[in-house]
Amino acid sequence: MAFLCRSAALLLRPCKTAPVALSAARLCSSGGQYEYIVVEKRGEKKNVGFIQLNRPKALNALCDGLMREVGHALDSFEADNGVGAIVITGSERAFAAGADIKEMQNRTFQECYGGNFLAHWNRVSTVKKPVIAAVNGFALGGGCELAMMCDIIYAGEKAQFGQPEILLGTIPGAGGTQRLTRAVGKSLAMEMVLTGDKIGAQEAKQSAFELTLAEGNRLEKRLFHATFATNDRKEGMTAFVEKRKASFQDN
Ligand SMILES: *[C@@H]1O[C@H](CO)[C@@H](O)[C@H](O)[C@H]1NC(C)=O
Repeated sequence: MAFLCRSAALLLRPCKTAPVALSAARLCSSGGQYEYIVVEKRGEKKNVGFIQLNRPKALNALCDGLMREVGHALDSFEADNGVGAIVITGSERAFAAGADIKEMQNRTFQECYGGNFLAHWNRVSTVKKPVIAAVNGFALGGGCELAMMCDIIYAGEKAQFGQPEILLGTIPGAGGTQRLTRAVGKSLAMEMVLTGDKIGAQEAKQSAFELTLAEGNRLEKRLFHATFATNDRKEGMTAFVEKRKASFQDN
C-alpha cells in the first residue's frame, strides 16, 4: 500500500456523467441488486472493475450491508478473467467518513468478540488483483482503514485521512493502528490515533514501509472488541449518535 498524491478527479468524474450505465450496472452478477454501491466494468477494454461507495446521505458510512456488498463485488471481479485491476472510490465529498456508528452503538463485548466483528472487511486486502483506492474528501476511521487495505491510494487534493476512534472511546478495529504505522511512520500514526487529528494528502505521502501485518491486526481487532466492554466506548458512540459532546468517565 502506498499513498500517491495524484488527482482522484479523473477516476471520480466519469461516474457522475454516466447515469444510464450506472442503473444497468447496479445488478450484481448473481442477479441481486446492490443497494449501497455502484459496480461496473470501466475502461476501453472494460477490464477495470469499478466499485463506487454510494451512501451519499451518510457520507458513505461503512455499514455492514455496504461492506458485504463490497466483498461480493470483489469476489465477482476476482473470478472474472476479463478484469485486471479494481478501483474502489467514493464521492468528491467523502471516500467514506467512517464505519456506521449507529450500528455499533449498542453492541456488547460478547457480540463483538464472539462474532469476530469486522473480520469480513479483510476481504479487501486479500484480493489477488491490484486494488486501487481513489480517495477524495473524508477517509476517516473505517474509511481510512478501507483505503489502506488497497494496494495503492490515489489521493485528491481534498482528501483527509484520520483515525478519530479515540473521540468515540474506542480504537481502530480494521487495521488502522497497523497499516497507518506502515503508511506514514510510527510517530505520525501515534499522533493521529491518540488525538484523532486528520492529515491531508501531501502529509500522508511522506513516509512508507511495510512489515508483516497478520499478528498486529489480530491483536488490534481483539483490543478493539475489548473497548466494547467499557462504559466510555458506549458513551462515546451514544454521544456521537445523539450529536452531543461525550462525557468520558475513564471506565
Ligand atoms: C441504543 O439503545 C438506546 C437505549 O439504551 C436506544 O435509545 C437507542 O435507540 C439504541 N440505538 C440503536 C441504534 O439502536
